[in-house]
Amino acid sequence: MARILTGIQSSGRPHLGNILGAIKPAIELSKNPQNESFFFIADLHSLTTLKNGTERVEYVRAIAATWLAFGFDYKKNVFWRQSRVQEHTELGWYLNCFTPFPMLANATSFKDKSEKLADVNAGLFTYPVLQAADILLYNANIIPVGKDQKQHLEMTKDIANRFNILAGEEILVLPEPQIDERIMTIPGLDGQKMSKSYHNYIDIFLPENELKKITKKILSDSKALEEPKDPDSDITFQLYSLVASEADVETMRSNYVNGGYGYGHAKQALFECFMDVFAEPRRIFNYYMENTEELESILVEGEAKARDIAQDTIGKVRKVLGFSS
Ligand code: TYM
Repeated sequence: MARILTGIQSSGRPHLGNILGAIKPAIELSKNPQNESFFFIADLHSLTTLKNGTERVEYVRAIAATWLAFGFDYKKNVFWRQSRVQEHTELGWYLNCFTPFPMLANATSFKDKSEKLADVNAGLFTYPVLQAADILLYNANIIPVGKDQKQHLEMTKDIANRFNILAGEEILVLPEPQIDERIMTIPGLDGQKMSKSYHNYIDIFLPENELKKITKKILSDSKALEEPKDPDSDITFQLYSLVASEADVETMRSNYVNGGYGYGHAKQALFECFMDVFAEPRRIFNYYMENTEELESILVEGEAKARDIAQDTIGKVRKVLGFSS
């Protein structure tokens, strides 16, 4: 039996990149009866960039509602908020003391973020250590994530290994990332990686007219309607090919190649595809965003299960480190 674990930061509402890159693949894996799934909301991580508590509450709900909207079975599996299981921060501290400074200083995501953000805080620097704690607390084997998380997973293994060497036995289980090659990096409106911090994301839960407006903003070149176009270098086509059926993608491909088909047509087709493919998730998402007490009780139930497992691991770690008698 494999234990699957992944998390999403509550630094904004989830976008199409999170959904296609992490949420949907994780839910697919969770449907295998051989697997046990641990999906959580990384609200502590979101503090590295988001300081406003009221917004955090809203975004935590939106992320929880998205997991449920895409069919996560919270009864069979484990579903929780990171901040409600204090063992995450405790293990995070211990692991800080097993993490070489240069490993963090050379992390690509830290370098990227510290170039772009005004608030370069210590939490941002030690972000991968808390992520390692999230994973190692639960003895997780497989971590479905987008390509941007590959280095964090390598660090997790390295940190766990250093701890295990001290312990003289494998107390912390070394996890493996699972990255779907086809959907490694979902492009945003401007063709860069879709990201909250680049403001280039598509929120598929927006009201219909706003979703249409956002879809129209996808960057395209200036080829005229009648000219043939290259589907593979076009962002609208790339996104369409990730959500539409194979037959519809082939039809759009020949429309591009033949000419007489404008980018406006392609964007309209993409918008209609979003409305069609995501109709049910949009309905469930709105239901939970309106019924927040129900959402809260689902999370509280999950947090009790998560805490039990986390306490078991932290007990072993404390013992090795001499923090328990
Ligand atoms: P976050 O919230 O930034 O991203 C959540 C997940 O979405 C994936 N993702 C993408 N995938 C494809 N294309 C994109 N444009 C795109 N943008 C985001 C990310 O790769 C990620 O899988 N550090 C994690 C949160 C976390 C975590 C963990 C994950 C905290 N602890 C433990 C796994 C295990 C993150 O980047 O979240």
